[in-house]
Amino acid sequence: MLYDAVKHLPDQITMPAPTPSALHQQLRLATKEPHHALDHHPLMARLLAPHVSRDDYGDALAAMHGIYANAETALLTYLAHHPDLFDYAPRRKLPALEADLAALGRQPFAATVQLPAIDRAGALFGMLYTLEGATLGGQFIATRLRQQGAGDLPMQFYTVYGEHARSHWLAFLESAEQRCPQTEYPSAVATAVALFEDIRSHLDTCRQP
Ligand code: HEM
Repeated sequence: MLYDAVKHLPDQITMPAPTPSALHQQLRLATKEPHHALDHHPLMARLLAPHVSRDDYGDALAAMHGIYANAETALLTYLAHHPDLFDYAPRRKLPALEADLAALGRQPFAATVQLPAIDRAGALFGMLYTLEGATLGGQFIATRLRQQGAGDLPMQFYTVYGEHARSHWLAFLESAEQRCPQTEYPSAVATAVALFEDIRSHLDTCRQP
């Protein structure tokens, strides 16, 4: 397997760029606009501004907590009954998010939305796609914050896979291609889109005074 050969090497040494699978293409296309809505959402866009305050940074993390807490519980519950589909436990991001919130002295915002149910393989891979892809955006945000002189902010969540973000992403895509049957693709796409939309609606609520 490609991933087995490269997983111990830093990504800048390996950097394979495979042709996107049909599933990946469908997911990427369907979530393009919802992703745009998220990365332009006032709570998130502030992270890319020239001067990011600790409060703004903490707001974005506090808002994400409810999403990750509920999504990871749902993922691990489903995978406990379908352990061959994916090993998510070592990829949990909530501990990193909670460590950052603790370092900032912040409490999480409560969850305000019900996330899509994970009741079949397609839904599983749609939710995994969204959370695993977000680690790429996280890397981008962390790099940007350092460039803007905000490198002292706690960034465990946005750098959760360290230098292995790209290889973890490729390994996820490989698993999805192998283990998500084609008949499940519509469910994967619908779940990913619904999750993006739920996150946006949750961020909208968190933004209210
Ligand atoms: C300010 C907020 C965000 C920014 C600036 C951002 C930025 C990016 C960037 C630059 C990439 C491409 C990375 C690459 O290919 O190397 C990416 C990919 C992705 N992001 Fe975000 N992102 C943000 C928020 C989010 C959030 C909140 C989610 C969902 C929870 C998300 C989900 C994804 C997904 C699924 C991909 C993979 C797209 C693909 O299939 O190639 N992003 N993001």
